[in-house]
Amino acid sequence: MTERIYLDHAATTPVDPEVAEAMVRVLSEVPGNPSSIYAEGRRARALVDRSRAEVAAAIGAQPGEIVFTSGGTEADNLALRGVLKAYRGERDGLVISAIEHHAVLDTAEDLERHAHVRVTRVPVDRDGLVDPLAVERAIDGRTALVSIMHANNEVGTVEPIDAIGRVCRAKGVPFHTDAVQTVGVLPFDVRELPADLASINAHKLYGPKGVGALYVRGGTRIATMQTGGGQEKGRRTGTENVAGIVALGVAMRIAAERRERDAARLSALRDRIIDGVRSRIPAAVLTGHPTRRLPNSASFCFPGAQGESLIVALDLEGISVSSGSACTSGSTEPSHVLTAIGVARDAAQGSLRITVGRDTTDAHVDRLLEVLPRVVERIRAVSREPVAT
Ligand SMILES: Cc1ncc(COP(=O)(O)O)c(C=O)c1O
Repeated sequence: MTERIYLDHAATTPVDPEVAEAMVRVLSEVPGNPSSIYAEGRRARALVDRSRAEVAAAIGAQPGEIVFTSGGTEADNLALRGVLKAYRGERDGLVISAIEHHAVLDTAEDLERHAHVRVTRVPVDRDGLVDPLAVERAIDGRTALVSIMHANNEVGTVEPIDAIGRVCRAKGVPFHTDAVQTVGVLPFDVRELPADLASINAHKLYGPKGVGALYVRGGTRIATMQTGGGQEKGRRTGTENVAGIVALGVAMRIAAERRERDAARLSALRDRIIDGVRSRIPAAVLTGHPTRRLPNSASFCFPGAQGESLIVALDLEGISVSSGSACTSGSTEPSHVLTAIGVARDAAQGSLRITVGRDTTDAHVDRLLEVLPRVVERIRAVSREPVAT
């Protein structure tokens, strides 16, 4: 069998062997519940505490500012629902961008429908950038929270969250950022970034699926969304996923150690893909910002080709990529992100996201650049053929 080439690291990353080893060790050697006061429980508690310190250190936070969750989706839900609930009766406004992940977008819609929250969706420009001035204009005296993602998962654009955070701070409004695609990839230090809440998950940084964290700056008002035993200082109750939490800590420590080296290597691979695709497939349109983009992400539209067909054809060639976000693939509607950046419907149908990672080599990129032009040509030729009736 030919070697598979995995180029969908924005969907998920393979687990680092050191992370897997730490996780298995906890599963097989630490049976205790962190809430139990006898030895087994104390050992589990010590591991959770150590991981909390590791996660906090990786982003310049205090350990008490980290709330462990089941991943990015839950962290986003907790941020939006928790802050809006804490301000209930005083403030009812929520400002988001038009290109947020569904974990934010659909949560905002749900709050709008069922909790009388006023949601303002700030548009983006053709590169997918949010204008901090537009955020400033969207804030009013009743805004409880602004939530703008750090980098977009579909087109890779990195948002000016520094400037947006400063606007929020000047207006006295808490600022949440979905940093799922960026923590461990781009510099992220809450001593410098004016973010009050940030969503993190493990499976985009070579950790396991199903665990993540919400950073909550000390003093930020947030209510709990779950009721139960009161773990995580009541902010996210439920027995802790000890092995997952340990894995997140190890994954974040490794990512912090490797980040600069990885970013330089990955952005060189990404640029080879962007330049190679553009020169070999002149009709290809790069989506997202040409320079302010994730170091691991190249995304395109191929007018006249179906994204799903491209994925299937590349899969048969042993190459894994995705069309827009994994969560929305399967749908034939253009994604909300491509619509928001003004990609025409026909072009948006042929969207492809190629994201490199630690295991990607120059040889993988060579193979992609050899295969992709002929696959695109074939799919476009099939799409042009008249349909038999
Ligand atoms: C930007 C962004 N936010 C949130 C999520 C959801 O995270 P999780 O898969 O941990 O629930 C993802 C993952 O696809 C993402 O890319």
